[in-house]
Amino acid sequence: MIEVENLTKHYGQHVALDGITFAVGHGEVVGFLGPNGAGKSTTMRILTTFLAATSGSVHIGGDCVFERPNQVRSRIGYMPENNPLPIDLRARDYLVFRAQLKHLSKDMATKRVDEVVEQCGISNEENRYIGQLSRGYRQRVGMADALLANPELIILDEPTSGLDPNQVRSVRSLIRKLAGKHTVLISSHILSEIEMTCDRVIILHEGKLLASGEMNKLISKSNSKVVAEIRAPLIDIKNWVNEIALEDSELIEQKNGYVRCQFSGTKNNDAREQIFATVNERGWELRELSRHTPSLEDLFVSLTNGKEGNR
Ligand SMILES: Nc1ncnc2c1ncn2[C@@H]1O[C@H](COP(=O)(O)OP(=O)(O)O)[C@@H](O)[C@H]1O
Ligand SMILES: [Mg+2]
Repeated sequence: MIEVENLTKHYGQHVALDGITFAVGHGEVVGFLGPNGAGKSTTMRILTTFLAATSGSVHIGGDCVFERPNQVRSRIGYMPENNPLPIDLRARDYLVFRAQLKHLSKDMATKRVDEVVEQCGISNEENRYIGQLSRGYRQRVGMADALLANPELIILDEPTSGLDPNQVRSVRSLIRKLAGKHTVLISSHILSEIEMTCDRVIILHEGKLLASGEMNKLISKSNSKVVAEIRAPLIDIKNWVNEIALEDSELIEQKNGYVRCQFSGTKNNDAREQIFATVNERGWELRELSRHTPSLEDLFVSLTNGKEGNR
């Protein structure tokens, strides 16, 4: 569905994209991850034909975005970053207007507006002025607009930024419902955000492609941390930890007889199973056993590992 080859974008002297290459298949929900300034919005603007590239090629559904922008646009529903919406229009009127711009017939426009209003959960707000809607509802209006023409490809630039936790949840569940029916590309600078919504991830860093692949595989590559709180004599736990030779362990004695054990460098779930089995065998008490997935920062460190990207 999306094929990007050697895409480069310079803003004057500044290199915002430095030759990135990736592909997204039909029906995939892909996260576009990277810290602020990585080049996510720039890539999305080029994909959606709103910005010219310096060099490289982009095809959407087989059409070149530079040569056939109209065909490309008709395939895409795009919600830009900080989506500017007219505050003095009612939500429904705005969507009807947008449907006309997207060349939907009058009947079709009414039908689709009804559907997306329902789908995005704005039925109770559709007759309010956009200026009176909360940020979460404005975001839903933006998503409803992106869905209007039932596009094959939906591109959402930081759809959850600035939302409160409840709003984030509802936007996330909305995105998950789109999976399978549409190809979806979502950008975010928050790893956990992408982790919860996407199967695949493309990681950008300073205009370069750092990694691309299945979310689980990438996360399992980076070191996660296992924490266990066990009630047993410290010396017994120390001996046991030496026996099983888990890398980088840290034992902190707690006031109430528990020892907090942190193991970093555990690459899979086995450490948890191993810990649980031992605690059972030896009749120790366990009050916490958890595995902490790495943060975006950890993921970057493990992906770069001192190297400069993968190019
Ligand atoms: N219109 C512009 N003019 C000059 N520099 C820009 C412009 N837009 C973005 N940049 C710069 O390009 C880089 C990538 O920006 P952007 O694509 O917005 O990153 P992201 O969306 O990942 O935060 C940043 O360093 C940003 O400052
Ligand atoms: Mg951005």
